[in-house]
Amino acid sequence: MGLKMEESSGLQQVNCRAKDGSAGFRVAILGAAGGIGQPLAMLMKMNPLVSVLHLYDVVNSPGVTADISHMDTGAVVRGFLGQNQLENALTGMDLVIIPAGVPRKPGMTRDDLFNINAGIVKTLCEGVAKCCPKAIVNLISNPVNSTVPIAAEVFKKSGTFDPKRLLGVTMLDVVRANTFVAEVLGIDPREVDVPVVGGHAGVTILPLLSQVKPPCSFTPEETDYLTVRIQNGGTEIVEAKAGAGSATLSMAYAAVKFADACLRGLRGDAGVVQCAFVASQVTELPFFASKVRLGRTGIEEIYPLGPLNAYERIGLDKAKKELASSIEKGVSFIKK
Ligand code: NAD
Ligand code: LMR
Repeated sequence: MGLKMEESSGLQQVNCRAKDGSAGFRVAILGAAGGIGQPLAMLMKMNPLVSVLHLYDVVNSPGVTADISHMDTGAVVRGFLGQNQLENALTGMDLVIIPAGVPRKPGMTRDDLFNINAGIVKTLCEGVAKCCPKAIVNLISNPVNSTVPIAAEVFKKSGTFDPKRLLGVTMLDVVRANTFVAEVLGIDPREVDVPVVGGHAGVTILPLLSQVKPPCSFTPEETDYLTVRIQNGGTEIVEAKAGAGSATLSMAYAAVKFADACLRGLRGDAGVVQCAFVASQVTELPFFASKVRLGRTGIEEIYPLGPLNAYERIGLDKAKKELASSIEKGVSFIKK
């Protein structure tokens, strides 16, 4: 029996064996009924590494759970509705993916979402600290440059902070960069790998076009075009949707690509490397996005930025300035 809406008590530990007998992971999505949450839930139900999928939201999770549960894939799906079911949704989870929170409308910055989303992320992370402190957390809710520091402070307060297990999801920047660079080069985007470092808002999104694989070069005009387009990718979608939200489908794709990398790392696969916004010593800032290697304990290595060209060094200075204040805003939201 796959579908189960939990009462506020009852669920304790779930079986983490997939139906085919292989080990599977237990994954919760918080904000599962939203624009990102629904396609993300569908794609995670299709992931063979997932044996149990918990779908939590403050609205509409019963319908989404019923719908997803009819898919003939291995993961057992359970739905959870409202704050009093949060703890049951989180208990026993290996990976918690958080796309809960409001999205932008045209004219807004991601920071304009802070007032609403900071409180949502705080509450959800308090639940993680209490119910599954060893889980890997993939934080999608914006502004990521502030919500990741918020999550870290919540975990520090509860004595559960493990910097190896908290990852701000910047995968969509990489997905976009791969797509736009492939268009310029006239090659298949699946052959392209663009490191995107810094953070996840405007000038803090810093594509390292000098380090693209396969090795290639760009004219100054192409470099400008690509950098600006990658930095404004989110705004491009917000404007195209004209008030109906921000990126959801490409974000769900990116979130699943990233979650799958985390699960492969947990399984013990070698050489799993992705960019993410994490607690870091790569720069003087306490958080920074760069390439990380994922393993059984979460982040097992954070790679340095590598050689930057003059254009990228100027970009890095701008990114660090904005990032410093976004990080500080998140930290002081909890410390105040
Ligand atoms: P949405 O409004 O469609 O969905 C958000 C969902 O969160 C809703 O179902 C809502 O009920 C739920 N929610 C609200 N408060 C909650 C709470 N306390 N607990 C659990 N669920 C709660 O929005 P969306 O388009 O899915 O975007 C969600 C967030 O993701 C936004 O903040 C958006 O800016 C961000 N986002 C981040 C990236 C990224 O690259 N990191 C990309 C796209 C969107
Ligand atoms: C994105 O990059 O698409 C997201 O951060 C959503 C947004 O507000 O742009």
